[in-house]
Amino acid sequence: MASFLRSSAPRSIAQQASRFAAVQQPLAARTRAAPFLFRRGLASASVPEQPRLRLGSVAPNFKASTTQGDIDFHQWIADSWAILFSHPADFTPVCTTELGAFAKLKDEFEKRGVKMIGLSANDIGSHGKWIEDINEISNTNLSFPIIGDADRNVAFLYDMITQDDLENAGRATAFTIRSVFIIDPSKKIRLTMMYPASTGRNSAEVLRVIDSLQTGDQKGVTTPIDWQVGDDVIVPPTVSTEDAKKKFGKDNVREVKPYLRYTTI
Ligand code: BEZ
Repeated sequence: MASFLRSSAPRSIAQQASRFAAVQQPLAARTRAAPFLFRRGLASASVPEQPRLRLGSVAPNFKASTTQGDIDFHQWIADSWAILFSHPADFTPVCTTELGAFAKLKDEFEKRGVKMIGLSANDIGSHGKWIEDINEISNTNLSFPIIGDADRNVAFLYDMITQDDLENAGRATAFTIRSVFIIDPSKKIRLTMMYPASTGRNSAEVLRVIDSLQTGDQKGVTTPIDWQVGDDVIVPPTVSTEDAKKKFGKDNVREVKPYLRYTTI
């Protein structure tokens, strides 16, 4: 399916959104009608069942087509960390800049053992054309897969749809499907972020969180506000000061308050 944003003269966001609704395919069979849709007289609209996505819960598995072939998501992650980030449609301007930035950071993600995968609610033929634009605009060579989610099955499975999109089912806006998930090698969700269409994501923050999570897992510490690699870290409340001194060195625990102890690693 060709992207609705590419095909002709520039459109307003509202025009793009209504065209986006028009090209959406029917939702999958495994659906239930949302109660508020009945109340609003939109009972024919429905949303798929979705598991609760909590930090620490297993990221739902799915099979999908991507720009690099078909995948089983868990098998694709294998023993790596993974970042899944999503987009409502190809050829959207903010998303174009985001994918270019992530593509440029390939080495940084690889260094941390993190596989990257994008998702956009168009088909993979359209993604291929969008990738050409992204590479041209950002002077990069995007080399991670992008999931074709034209029927928005994965977007619903991961609860990436915004409230106004659900409530306007059948007249859906495109201001939706802009999530970030960090998933660890045991397939647990370690971070979720959901961005509005108006605000480009912060790739440095994604890397910073990965650094914090991996440092925490390896060293048994937590990290304070705005922490960067090399800064002091925090001894978690579950570790006594005595044990912290044994672990990090007797002169390497700085107690600001009994509940706030810094150390270096
Ligand atoms: C974007 O600029 O990426 C965008 C525009 C409209 C809807 C969603 C995203």
